[in-house]
Amino acid sequence: MLKLFKIHPASIKAIEKGHPWVTLDSFSSKFPRDREFIYACNDKRKPIALLLHDPEHKNIRARVWIQGTDLGQDKENFQREFETRLDNAITKRLNSKIQEERENYYLLFGEADFIPGLFIQKFKDRIFIQSKMSFWSKKKNLYKNILRSTIENRFPNEELSFWFQERKISKKGSLSLLFQDQPKHSSSFILEEFGVKYQIRMHASYDPGIYTDMSAQRKVLAPIIKEAKNFLNLYSYTGAYSLFALKNSEAKVTSVDLSRNYLDWLEENIALNEDLDQDRHETLCFSVQKTVDMLIHNERKFDCILCDPPSSSNDGKTTTKAFKEYETLLPKLLEITEKDGKLILFLNTHEIRQEKFHNKIKDIVKSLGKVKIVPINIKLKEDCPTLKGFPEGNYLKGIVLQKQY
Ligand SMILES: C[S@@+](CC[C@H](N)C(=O)[O-])C[C@H]1O[C@@H](n2cnc3c(N)ncnc32)[C@H](O)[C@@H]1O
Repeated sequence: MLKLFKIHPASIKAIEKGHPWVTLDSFSSKFPRDREFIYACNDKRKPIALLLHDPEHKNIRARVWIQGTDLGQDKENFQREFETRLDNAITKRLNSKIQEERENYYLLFGEADFIPGLFIQKFKDRIFIQSKMSFWSKKKNLYKNILRSTIENRFPNEELSFWFQERKISKKGSLSLLFQDQPKHSSSFILEEFGVKYQIRMHASYDPGIYTDMSAQRKVLAPIIKEAKNFLNLYSYTGAYSLFALKNSEAKVTSVDLSRNYLDWLEENIALNEDLDQDRHETLCFSVQKTVDMLIHNERKFDCILCDPPSSSNDGKTTTKAFKEYETLLPKLLEITEKDGKLILFLNTHEIRQEKFHNKIKDIVKSLGKVKIVPINIKLKEDCPTLKGFPEGNYLKGIVLQKQY
């Protein structure tokens, strides 16, 4: 007899609509901590879904593996099904043209590829596996072996090395741990995205030097960036958008970031690319807020501004949420935008939906002068799919404006 656990009626409704999470509530808090799998049922004990349990997560207590009625059999088939889902996800990427354009791409994108809480990027010949739930970390060796063999089978001509990052989001905060498995390659190497070289450092911090979920956006924005004469990259990090602009346009490029380390890394990236003109680039190591005031004061103008803030940021004194920050930042950005210039604004959080973000931006610009919305759809795509009915996975949003006054 399977031991079934009741879940909240709201969870059942959400699961039936395709939502893959069971959050912390009076039902999920009773799941026994030592169970890896939870057989979820309704109040009439009808089986609903096989869940992967994450007792340590502060909010997401379990993720749906499969909806069904024969949960015992689903659990028996788990390993085979895991391999199949992973293999299907890799096949999708191999059947696309992504690899011809970039050496960084996702092989697996968590819930949207039906393997919840697990994300895998290929960085050239390094495989970067990120686990966001304790389920995968608990039997690390078992899953590592399945992952290794499935991935190695699909790239028979490459000598791959594997990196595992565990991200724990518990009540005590968030923690990231990195392991390298049977190291064959050094942790520091160069890869190419759209013909531009980037220095990658697997051990550097949570992110190794490039945001792969942004790669598809760079392609979408290429026609706008190509026309730029004066490009301002706010929150530049290691400079992927700055280098992309140097490569694809004649523009003078200004990169702004609070971190000297990231700006040094950005300059190192430019130096790796002999065809890029370093003299067309400047770095400003200040907070965006301070820099924008300085630029207004100096009457500098740009015909293309890209703003990609972290969901919450700290200028050394106060922490602000990007969504709210646009209220004060956007009017100032319009001051330093030339007539007919473009503003590319991102928001990186699942907490605010695309529509709410767009409405807020429209609201802010309403009283400032004529501003057109450029019809470009910025959302996760290509190797970073999203799942219908799962807005939490659809965290990246953007809008492009054109100043017409
Ligand atoms: C999400 S990353 C930007 C990614 C980048 N646009 C890309 O595509 O590679 C955020 C960056 O903002 C920087 N940052 C955070 N708060 C800042 C602030 N107030 N002013 C300037 N930079 C800031 C961080 O150092 C980090 O490099």
